[in-house]
Amino acid sequence: MKSIENQIDKILQDGQAAIVDVQDKDALQAWRSQYTGRSSELAGILKNLKDIPQENRKDIGQKINSIKQELETLFDSKSNELVNNSSQTSSDSSIDVSLPGTYKKNGHLHPITLALRETLNVLSRLGFSTVEGPEAESSYYNFDRLRIPDDHPARDMWDTFWLDAEQSKDPLLLRTHTSPMQIRFLEKNDPPIRIAVPGKCYRYEATDATHEWMMHQVEILAIDKGISISNLKGTLQSFAYKMFGADAKIMLRNSYFPFVEPGVEMAVFFRGEWLEVMGAGMVHPDIIEAAGYDPNIYSGFAAGMGIERIAMLLWDIDDIRYFYQNDLRFLNKF
Ligand code: FA5
Repeated sequence: MKSIENQIDKILQDGQAAIVDVQDKDALQAWRSQYTGRSSELAGILKNLKDIPQENRKDIGQKINSIKQELETLFDSKSNELVNNSSQTSSDSSIDVSLPGTYKKNGHLHPITLALRETLNVLSRLGFSTVEGPEAESSYYNFDRLRIPDDHPARDMWDTFWLDAEQSKDPLLLRTHTSPMQIRFLEKNDPPIRIAVPGKCYRYEATDATHEWMMHQVEILAIDKGISISNLKGTLQSFAYKMFGADAKIMLRNSYFPFVEPGVEMAVFFRGEWLEVMGAGMVHPDIIEAAGYDPNIYSGFAAGMGIERIAMLLWDIDDIRYFYQNDLRFLNKF
């Protein structure tokens, strides 16, 4: 670990030495992209944080953030220095050199966008192509076609924001999960199928440290001849190790969802407890049959994972509510 820490310290020292020679805006932008940009050495270390043993990950992550902050401060003060120098030497009398210079910080991606992109990236390496579905969904696709009829107790699993009166024939709602795209995609496409469906989902429920009323899921669906539960297990394990590192402790345990048989959920060990990150299972034969395929020939698996929970694991964040409080002290760490 010492060698990574030394490497990070060296980046700061080099940045401090190099900024002394910066004399204009272009050189300053080049300095910024070399030391803090997306292809910088620092960004590379941050990207590979998941490969660092879990017990060191938090310290290294914090160190990277504080060095990044120091480099940003260097950038800010050099930028102010350049603005002040240029206004003092300006010969244009229409410019009031006594006004303070203005400098706006660049924006950056939200941690959930970063986690979502990383998830889709890993899934694409496992062979899943991204497709999207509607956020305002009909009750028919969100529930009925997934074997959750009106009077089924499983509807209570997903407390719903209704957009139409619940009594209308096929009311619109804010989708409670990304699973309706399983049906929509199967209606229009033939196996072999391997898709990943990202999207916002909504639950009419109280928030706590692991639950938000709006969250992102990514659904995966694989349908082909002869897919078995070991394919599901292997895919979920590869996904987890690629996302969270080879030392991540993961568990698959029984669960129930009406549209799979059998159903499982995957949890990852986090801060002394198991944190559930996804529901999954073998696609129910009724769903394969309803799509027009013989369930004795075709089979498949599906899973729906929570991106906020994945982001909690990636960056060791103990409360999901930080993501949407818009506190810049939190957001600027990413
Ligand atoms: C579902 O939504 C199923 N559609 C998943 C599925 C897909 C099962 C395909 C079988 C086959 P569940 O309600 O457990 O299941 O949510 C899946 C994941 O979304 C959870 O493991 C969790 O990571 C995330 N999640 C669910 N509710 C919330 C919430 N309120 N806040 C944050 N994350 C949530």
